[in-house]
Amino acid sequence: MIFDTHSHYTDEQFSDIEELLTKLNTENSVSEIITCGTDIASSKAAISLSERFPFVYAAIGYHPEEFSRCDLDLDTLKSLITKKVLAIGEIGLDYYWNKENKEKQKHGFIEQIKLAQKLNLPVIVHDRDAHGDTLQILKEYTPKGVVHCFSGSTEMAKEVIKIGMYIGVGGVVTFKNAKNLPEVIENSPLDRILLETDAPYLAPVPFRGKRNDSSLIPYIAEKIGDIKGISADEVLKITRQNAYNLFFKF
Ligand code: NI
Repeated sequence: MIFDTHSHYTDEQFSDIEELLTKLNTENSVSEIITCGTDIASSKAAISLSERFPFVYAAIGYHPEEFSRCDLDLDTLKSLITKKVLAIGEIGLDYYWNKENKEKQKHGFIEQIKLAQKLNLPVIVHDRDAHGDTLQILKEYTPKGVVHCFSGSTEMAKEVIKIGMYIGVGGVVTFKNAKNLPEVIENSPLDRILLETDAPYLAPVPFRGKRNDSSLIPYIAEKIGDIKGISADEVLKITRQNAYNLFFKF
C-alpha cells in the first residue's frame, strides 16, 4: 500500500480528478494521500478534496513563492483547520524563484512553524536553494515534520534527522542528475524517509516530464530499494509506517 505524503491534486492539470482518485485508491493500492495547499484558496480546495475522498488528507499553508503575491494571514489559515488537516504546509524558503524578499519569506516560514506547534501539527517544508537559512530556522524552532523533495547535503540530512524530522523523497531520485540524493539516502536510516510525488510535478523516470500521480510511487520505492539493498515492497511498507508515525501519531 502506498502513502503519498506530498501532492497538489487541486492543480488545474487534474481535470479528471474524480476518476483519477477513485482509480488510484481502488486499482493502484494508494491508501493515503496528502494534498498540499500553497495559499488560502488552494488550502481551501485541498480541504474540500479531503472531504470528498476518505483516503485524501490536506496540508494547508503559504508556499514561500506566494509571498511575492500576498501577505501572511495567520488567522484565516487557522480558521480553515479541520480533522482532515494533517500538517501545515507547504511552507519554507525558495531563493531560486525569489531572492528579493528573503526577510518576508523567513517571517512567513517562522510564523507558520509557530502556528503548527501551537496546533500540535507537523510541518511540510519546502527548501529550494535556501539550505543554510532553512536549516538554521529548523534548528532554532525544532518543529516535527518533513523536508519535502530533499535537495540538501548528507550533512544537512543528518542535522534534519537529529531534530527528529523526516527526509521527503520523490521522482528526483530516479533522475540522472539526482546529484547527492542517492548518497543522502544511503546515509539516512530508512525509518526517517517518506515517499512523495509532488504531483503533478516531478514524475519519476521513465515518465519524466509527464503529469505525475501517486500510481508512480513504486518507481521511487524501487530506486530507494536499489540504494538500500532491499525490495521496493519493503520500502513502501516501512515508509508508509513512517508517514503514520509522523502524521497520525504525532
Ligand atoms: Ni509541493
